[in-house]
Amino acid sequence: MEEKKIIPQHIAIIMDGNRRWAKERGLPTIEGHRKVADEILEPLIEHAANKGVKYITLWAWSTENWNRSSAEVSAIMKLFHHIIQNRWGRLHEKGVKIRVIGDISKFSPDIKDAITKVIEQTKNNTRITAIFALNYGGRDEVIRAIKKIKNFKEMTTETFGNALDTGGIPDPELIIRTGGEQRLSGFLLWQSEYSELSFPSWYMPEFIPKKLDELIEEFHSRQRRFGK
Ligand code: FPP
Repeated sequence: MEEKKIIPQHIAIIMDGNRRWAKERGLPTIEGHRKVADEILEPLIEHAANKGVKYITLWAWSTENWNRSSAEVSAIMKLFHHIIQNRWGRLHEKGVKIRVIGDISKFSPDIKDAITKVIEQTKNNTRITAIFALNYGGRDEVIRAIKKIKNFKEMTTETFGNALDTGGIPDPELIIRTGGEQRLSGFLLWQSEYSELSFPSWYMPEFIPKKLDELIEEFHSRQRRFGK
């Protein structure tokens, strides 16, 4: 029974409910995204690190999110740029290594440059790896991985896994989707094979560190059998 208390080494989060959170409070839509970016993520990543989590993946932008209104897309792009330039440096000071999954070629040059810089700047940090999923889609990731593979006959689950954006990162033991929707929407399509799933009804802007403790407690109460 000792195994049940092991802290998941990789927790992945589908950050949902930002607009509902803002709407229910009579705030502009962007306020939900801003609150998450400015107030929620840094304490959450730090708290996860303090608990011994080694990887935390955060889905910030999906391949489908470009279909939102142009006003929302441009407001979020501005927010991304601001956060990457002004907040990710602070994560570096806290020993966080930053990785990005997804196809970042679609972002503007200033966002791409800021991402490239911070990945380079934080590459030797070891406290925790924060993986931001940006323009990420599970099917898109699988297709891009397939295009990278040269020798199909020699392919194994391991070589395929290494061709994915998450190559070298262990699969998440726990995937959390805030906001009450009970689906993965293609998040970590390959990597989620044995993930425990958690669908709290509260919204991402409410994700204070204590809530992570509660979800990990709940995770501990589950039996992971891996098909055995
Ligand atoms: C999902 O909630 C949220 C998004 C699509 C955007 C998330 C972006 C951030 C939190 C900014 C983080 C910044 C960085 C650089 C990581 P929703 O808008 O779908 O809300 P809803 O379900 O209520 O409609």
